[in-house]
Amino acid sequence: MKTLTVKDFRDRKSTGQRLSVLTAYDASMARLLDNAGADALLVGDSLGMVVLGYDSTMPVTMEQMLHHAGAVRRGAQRALVIGDMPFGSYQISAEQAVRNGIRFLKEGGCAAVKLEGGAEVCDTVQALVRAGVPVMGHLGLTPQTAGQLGGFKVQGKDLAAARKLLADAKALEAVGVFSIVLEAVPAPLAAVITRAVSVPTIGIGAGPHCDGQVLVTNDMLGLFEKFIPSFVKQYVNLAPEIKKAVQQYISEVESGAFPAPEHSVASEEEFSRLLDELSYP
Ligand code: KIV
Repeated sequence: MKTLTVKDFRDRKSTGQRLSVLTAYDASMARLLDNAGADALLVGDSLGMVVLGYDSTMPVTMEQMLHHAGAVRRGAQRALVIGDMPFGSYQISAEQAVRNGIRFLKEGGCAAVKLEGGAEVCDTVQALVRAGVPVMGHLGLTPQTAGQLGGFKVQGKDLAAARKLLADAKALEAVGVFSIVLEAVPAPLAAVITRAVSVPTIGIGAGPHCDGQVLVTNDMLGLFEKFIPSFVKQYVNLAPEIKKAVQQYISEVESGAFPAPEHSVASEEEFSRLLDELSYP
């Protein structure tokens, strides 16, 4: 099966076929999402919250991201795998960003990286692109700097903020990003930005006019119960199903109903001959 390339992803802007992106953090889920046909798997730094149990994405390290990126890469065949640069891995200098971006490609097996920010990260993005590391931008609600944005809030709601988002998107396009995530941006503004740039916009809480959509997989499958953003559509609610299955397992273990004969590796009969020869009761 042919793996989607960054160019294939970017070219979808002109074909008009919308892009489906989901987050992934391990090989078995990556395999399921890939088999279902997701175009790209983002190893998001949301890893920190939905998998590692932190309250924010801030503590996530490069080592953790690479560990999970490698697992996702091994599980995916067709999807483009994108590694999310964690806080502190690209802010110090362009050189630091290039070093870490290259690690995502060489050690994590990713095809590209994503990083948050607008004009202020353009030098960094340019250095990465020049070094051969494809970059996806991320504008609007940027969780790594959510504190400075006044929390997890919709961005670009007034004229000045809308102008800045549009200028940031154009600046990212000019330094060579292959795509831009727009998070928690009013739908009409996301539509304007989508028309203004030549690379695909991937919306999350940004309305239907983007060139594609991304969701945190654990949110859309009902696996992360702690906090569900209002823009998430829960396609299935797996948490109660898992709880029900686990409760049934516990009660069957306690009652002895599990394991049944078909769950044993050899039947009592098959083994009885050998048992006879053992000198234990
Ligand atoms: O970390 C993440 O999962 C993300 C997506 C929500 C875009 O950045």
